[in-house]
Amino acid sequence: MIAGDSRTAAVVLAAGQGTRMKSKLQKVLHPVAGVPMVEHVLAAVGESGVPRALLVVGREAEQVRRALGARVEYVEQARQLGTGHAVAQARPVLAGQVDTVLVLYGDTPLLRGATLRSLLDLQAGRAPAVTMLTATAADPAGYGRILRDERGRVAGIMEEAVASPEQRQVREINSGVYCFRASWLWPHLERVQLSPKGEYYLTDLIAMAVGEGEEVETVTLAEASEAMGINDRVALAEAERVARSRVRERLMRAGVTFVDPGSCLVDATVAIGQDTVIWPNCLLRGSTRIGADCQIGPGAVIEDSSVGDRSRVVASFLESARVEDDVTLGPFCHLRPGAHLAGGVELGNFAEVKQSYLGPGTKMHHFSYLGDATVGAGVNVGAGTITCNYDSETRTKSRTVVEDEVGLGSDTMLVAPVRIGARSTTGAGSVVTRDLPPDSVAYGVPAVVKRARRPLVEKKT
Ligand code: UD1
Ligand code: CA
Repeated sequence: MIAGDSRTAAVVLAAGQGTRMKSKLQKVLHPVAGVPMVEHVLAAVGESGVPRALLVVGREAEQVRRALGARVEYVEQARQLGTGHAVAQARPVLAGQVDTVLVLYGDTPLLRGATLRSLLDLQAGRAPAVTMLTATAADPAGYGRILRDERGRVAGIMEEAVASPEQRQVREINSGVYCFRASWLWPHLERVQLSPKGEYYLTDLIAMAVGEGEEVETVTLAEASEAMGINDRVALAEAERVARSRVRERLMRAGVTFVDPGSCLVDATVAIGQDTVIWPNCLLRGSTRIGADCQIGPGAVIEDSSVGDRSRVVASFLESARVEDDVTLGPFCHLRPGAHLAGGVELGNFAEVKQSYLGPGTKMHHFSYLGDATVGAGVNVGAGTITCNYDSETRTKSRTVVEDEVGLGSDTMLVAPVRIGARSTTGAGSVVTRDLPPDSVAYGVPAVVKRARRPLVEKKT
């Protein structure tokens, strides 16, 4: 935190209806790179060193509170009477507590913390009435336009809805980020007049400050996309594109290879280790953690899962799974919630694992399903092996235990609950309904123990 910032607070506006999104979901909760857009705004505030953020909520306030929880302070705007009115709701909480108020809109997810910092630094200098962030947009449609006098000084902000055709030609836009001197802000908010559109525009404060001879400072963004405000799903997709490319760029700079970056989508929350290669068409989501020196893809979808170092995942789907080091998966594996693969496990095509642990070095190469199972180390799961873990009569699920170094023959059906003792083997097509003791050989339907397993012949050298 930067010294002096304890006298600064941010007010983030998120009470609006977001009509143009045409959505049941509150606008600021729509995800960008896998994270609700307002969380990007709050993260930028945090990065800038401002220690306190108030979120103004109104429409679908409950949704917002549920999504963000106790991480922020909330202020209610009961009726959405405009951005000026929204900021005024923070006054009872902040008046007398802070000297500087940073105002932002919850629908601008691409803002960077460093940009907010430069605004705060400029404001900290001479403490003008306001320092605001502007940008030069290729297409300024939908934004408030910055009006400047003949000497280039800011004269005010003209909202598009009430702008003249000439004013609409202006390409310098209001990004909706302002740093106010608190002692100037609070009394002046009360003097904002109702606009012809029936709202109290925060933007009217700029002309008010200029009219009083107050200073208005501006910071102009180098990269206009950073100022993007999301009002509809077209803008949402554009912000998504920019945010996703930033995520990939950050990872590439940290030592991750993307063979075809544009074909891969990685949430902002995902971590990937050094020298891992991401092949085309991968989707990495949520709390996913991938280790170093892995080969991921082509065609991997990994959600809320961890993958250890030196592992390989080809054309497979992982959800809430845990994969340790040196594991090989795919093509066409499905790891479902609760799958936990120990080091060196190999899963081949059409292998499905759910709520199961597979011990070190266990192999399951073809067409198999393990559900609610605990499998030891060095087990070979033959082609077509399936845990019959669900009893449709009792509607209960039961567990299967396969001890170390078992060899399950092709098409073994493990009717749970059942335990296969260490080093036992089953013959092809066995339907195992009863526990097998260690070191036995069983086959048949239902499978019975036929004999003891012969000791392994040591190869003579
Ligand atoms: C606003 C600015 C415009 C700027 C643009 C930048 C005003 C009047 N206009 O326009 O100059 O170029 O953002 O993106 O400020 N909100 C409330 N309560 C309300 C109304 C809005 O909390 O009563 C919130 C919304 O949830 C939203 C933010 O304020 O997060 C901005 O509102 P929005 O309607 O999106 O304003 P724009 O038309 O985009
Ligand atoms: Ca907006």
